[in-house]
Amino acid sequence: MLKAYADNWALISGASTGIGAEFARKLAARGMHLVLTARRRELLEQLAAELHTAHGTKCEIVVLDLADPESPRQLLETIEQRGITIELLVNNAGFGQIGEIADADVDRMMEMIRLNIGALTELTYRLLPGMIERGHGAIINVSSVAAFQPVAYMATYAASKAYVLHFSEALWVEAREKGVTVMALCPGTTRTDFFNVAGANGWLAKRRAHSPSQVVRTALKALEKKRQYVIPGWRNYLLALLVRIVNRRTVVRESMKYFRPSRKKVKHEKEPSRDIVSTSDVPH
Ligand SMILES: NC(=O)c1ccc[n+]([C@@H]2O[C@H](COP(=O)([O-])OP(=O)(O)OC[C@H]3O[C@@H](n4cnc5c(N)ncnc54)[C@H](OP(=O)(O)O)[C@@H]3O)[C@@H](O)[C@H]2O)c1
Repeated sequence: MLKAYADNWALISGASTGIGAEFARKLAARGMHLVLTARRRELLEQLAAELHTAHGTKCEIVVLDLADPESPRQLLETIEQRGITIELLVNNAGFGQIGEIADADVDRMMEMIRLNIGALTELTYRLLPGMIERGHGAIINVSSVAAFQPVAYMATYAASKAYVLHFSEALWVEAREKGVTVMALCPGTTRTDFFNVAGANGWLAKRRAHSPSQVVRTALKALEKKRQYVIPGWRNYLLALLVRIVNRRTVVRESMKYFRPSRKKVKHEKEPSRDIVSTSDVPH
């Protein structure tokens, strides 16, 4: 697996906030140096300064939109030019979109596929051969509990995360005998900007959620055990098990509860206002 944390380099995508920023904090505390990438430079610079002060971490910042098909290659060229070898890749950048078919923003869906699937696949395939040649290294691909079932009103996102899970598990079994671990991380509801970005402002407020710190702690423990995937939290784990034994029609119909947009009738308003309602714990 990893040669060591200390003095080796990790590349973290989507490091500006949420789970990615927490990976940066926990890996810096273990002595790793970091390549941080996302679109918001200021947040990356603040994080780099924080980690340098706390741990003396060397951070390289690469500002890129990873939904641009040219970006993964540009990112790795930049890293190579800086003379850095990546020991741990954390493919974390991703987003979701919630809504009804009639309101689907198709361009946004395609952007999601390019980021959640395209960039993750390209970075994995461009870095994995080097790790295998060296006989050590690891990749964490951030999937979701939504990977275990179809999710209505979030179809593209859930399907993209199913891809990430299957892709990572297949590579796990190929790479493990060569000393390299590829692990899928499948978080449930986690307290980050994810829901605001997905168009469900305020959705988190009434729900049970893990902190990014709990999610990343579980992920790193599982990586050390060379697991093929990990689901933080026993409730999330049970949910992922349950959907495998219940028939698929029931599972997908039940999924309509999670993110069904409600139409509240407001007097004198031409367009009804919309809220996302949910009645149960949610995979996403
Ligand atoms: N929060 C949850 O409940 C939850 C549950 C399961 C799985 N996940 C997964 O966890 C991962 C991290 O999400 P999060 O919850 O931490 O949400 P978040 O706080 O919104 O973080 C998303 C990260 O991805 C980056 N990103 C978004 N679009 C990008 C693009 N086009 N190019 C480069 N970077 C981009 C964002 O940075 P910039 O905006 O600065 O580019 C940000 O750093 C995602 O893959 C998500 O699907 C989250």
